[in-house]
Amino acid sequence: MALKDKRILLGVTGGIAAYKAAELIRDFVRRQASVKVIMTKNAREFVMPLTLQTLSGNPVYTDMFSLDRPNEIIHISLADYADIIIVAPATANVIGKLAAGLADDLLTTVILATKSPVLICPAMNSNMLDNPAVKENIARLVKRDFHFMDPEWGELACKVEGRGRLPEISEIADEADAILTVKDFAGERVLVTAGPTREPFDPVRYITNYSSGKMGYALARCARNRGAKVVLISGPTALEKPRGVEFIAVSSALQMRDAVMSELETATVVIKAAAVADYRPSTISEKKIKKKAGGLAIELQRNPDIIAEVGREKGSRILVGFAMESHDLIENATEKMQQKNMDLIVANDVTQAGAGFQTDTNIVKILDCKGGIEDCPLMDKMMVADRILDKVRQIRMEGMPSRGPSNPSKRMRRK
Ligand code: CTP
Repeated sequence: MALKDKRILLGVTGGIAAYKAAELIRDFVRRQASVKVIMTKNAREFVMPLTLQTLSGNPVYTDMFSLDRPNEIIHISLADYADIIIVAPATANVIGKLAAGLADDLLTTVILATKSPVLICPAMNSNMLDNPAVKENIARLVKRDFHFMDPEWGELACKVEGRGRLPEISEIADEADAILTVKDFAGERVLVTAGPTREPFDPVRYITNYSSGKMGYALARCARNRGAKVVLISGPTALEKPRGVEFIAVSSALQMRDAVMSELETATVVIKAAAVADYRPSTISEKKIKKKAGGLAIELQRNPDIIAEVGREKGSRILVGFAMESHDLIENATEKMQQKNMDLIVANDVTQAGAGFQTDTNIVKILDCKGGIEDCPLMDKMMVADRILDKVRQIRMEGMPSRGPSNPSKRMRRK
């Protein structure tokens, strides 16, 4: 996770989405980054500095000419502090000032004084966004290597539907993560499966499991951040489709199998995080099955074992599987890995609190085909994903020691 131990300077400007800065700070803190905040005068009309100060655990900066810090040239010390500066939300006004090179408040002055990457997240009314002046300003800043995130479509504060909403909080944090992450997966095409499958037996009913898809989506986002081209094949989940990832929605195990096999040729790494139903109803009634006296038996038949099929056609690809076990974790997972020709298997014990389906965390052991076992105690699924990808990388480098924490130069050029 590239944001761990990184120093983020968050600039909050005066749009209605300023209230989302609170959630953004929480996400950064959850990812173990340190956060300082600069608020413009207009931002303070929307959110109290005390809120952001409490959440970040650091003073909130508002003023260029404060008498409180006599030994500090504040715009220089903040510019030096930042590994990355993120402006979220960014108004048309601040974008215009940055494009013109103006420095008439603390935020714009710090941005002129920094050599660290700057990520701008515009949020405004769609007509303002489409205004040629705003478009030109954004284009000028992109040419100067500022990073931008496209606003999302949805209901705006002015009650109209349009483009202009601040992206999802986790996507902004991911983008910052991606900017600071070493692109050690450049050139890889990573195929990830995620979520449950649904096995229907009439037009309104199906058999499924409790998989939320969170582990597979975290892997897809993490591989994307590390520079891979990612295709995510997902069963039905309630999760947001990750940005910058090719997304294929499927429902049943048979559909997932077809999608995996047609994407396999171009994949260099295959990670099967989906909880594929092992069985499906033998027949699907065209009409809704009506209740009758007595019980109802549904005959099931085996679904194809997708990972076993991939294992047979693996070639030089790296194949990663998952094992959910309630007992004899290591023995059962090792047997699965060997039988299905995997390079790695991520084993979790479903009886442990904080592991497995639905949670944001996981507790896993990563087993490799040479007998190595890496213990990952309770951690966020994005962190687990990073550890799994470290092991993949290690296999790719043929036994070279695993990658240390990514640490691009603080003074690196933007982009
Ligand atoms: N898997 C698959 N196709 C299936 C079933 C499972 O590709 N029809 C994959 C999963 O995506 C996972 C791995 O196989 O990566 C292990 O899944 P799991 O259900 O734990 O193991 P099974 O081999 O199905 O064995 P069992 O259910 O007997 O434990």
